[in-house]
Amino acid sequence: MESIIQPQIDIRPLLPNYVPEELIGRTDEIDFLENEIQNFMKHGACTNIHIDGVTGSGKTATLKYFEKKYPSLLKYVNCMGLTREKEFLSTISDTKPRTTTEAIQKAIDYFTEHRNILVIDEIDKIADTQTWNIINHIYRETAIPIFIISNRKDIDKTIPEDAHKTLLFHKVYFDSYNIETITEILQQRLNLSRFYFEDGCEVNILGVIAHHAYESGSARTALDILRFIVLDANTTPTTKDIKNYNDRLTMHDLTSQLRRLKPIEQRLLYVIALTQQKRSKNKYLTTGSLQDMYESRFQTISRGHFSTVLNNLNNYWNLDITMFKSKLPQGPGQTTQVVLNPSFADQLLQALSQINDEFKEC
Ligand SMILES: Nc1ncnc2c1ncn2[C@@H]1O[C@H](COP(=O)(O)OP(=O)(O)OP(=O)(O)O)[C@@H](O)[C@H]1O
Ligand SMILES: [Mg+2]
Repeated sequence: MESIIQPQIDIRPLLPNYVPEELIGRTDEIDFLENEIQNFMKHGACTNIHIDGVTGSGKTATLKYFEKKYPSLLKYVNCMGLTREKEFLSTISDTKPRTTTEAIQKAIDYFTEHRNILVIDEIDKIADTQTWNIINHIYRETAIPIFIISNRKDIDKTIPEDAHKTLLFHKVYFDSYNIETITEILQQRLNLSRFYFEDGCEVNILGVIAHHAYESGSARTALDILRFIVLDANTTPTTKDIKNYNDRLTMHDLTSQLRRLKPIEQRLLYVIALTQQKRSKNKYLTTGSLQDMYESRFQTISRGHFSTVLNNLNNYWNLDITMFKSKLPQGPGQTTQVVLNPSFADQLLQALSQINDEFKEC
């Protein structure tokens, strides 16, 4: 078998945390953020920003890029793995306070002394009323700009009203990438890693990877497939190999996203996916029948709570669940239309069965 791995390759540009010097296809977003950062440097103030967008769309990479460019200006914290406000506060103030009150004071002292922009990545991991009140308090006391990063669409709803009014986030949306941009990103990393495929194959291979990754619009998926190919294979991959890598990654991605959900959200998704499989075409489900199914499999739940969880799930997962008032006079009031792509419903059931035995029977 002919080896396609070149002796001088550098694997680093293909690793998940690598931040390239140049980010492709994000000129507008980068210009906007650059302008705000410049404002802060000149005038000591700028807008608070919420960076939103699908997974793998370069939100973290963009802020890491600015962190590199302005090393002492941004205070970046990733909330993944932080469970309590105190951990969050000690991370941002570089101290080890004993109580939350002390931690808040340390954070205020820190930002009074270091005029940084506070960048909070994956804020949804810690976003509750208490945390928002603390962030709001630090903001009022220090007036440092706050940039938050989250792909949970309903993050605004977790902010208490007065904090919402004070913090006033301007939203910058990172759209999913198209095939051309994904291909360019792959090409950039391939060049940086000094890796090359056999003559003439490259354009096609990158195109096929981009085509698969386009479904999720995620540069991460595309780069992961490329890394797998470089590390795993010692022959030029076929289209089928690339599809297999993509399927494996998609399942991996799905299970890790599902693990982040609360048990009640996982259970509801399970019921939705099951119902979707059984649903006859064009037949709408009532919220009530979905709830009945939930209760018959799991436990009773109040109507209000059920609707809230359903709405949150809808916002977060873009499930295309449409809630509307039935027009029929004999209708039950609220009707739910669940439109899941059947193959996605299958994937969901498979992924759920991998994360918890209670979903195994399907
Ligand atoms: N425009 C780009 N140019 C070059 N590389 C990019 C670009 N956008 C993303 N990447 C790369 O894709 C990978 C995923 O990007 P990143 O981690 O920033 O996504 P994210 O939007 O933060 O996703 P999540 O919501 O899951 O945290 C990283 O390796 C990043 O370097
Ligand atoms: Mg990120």
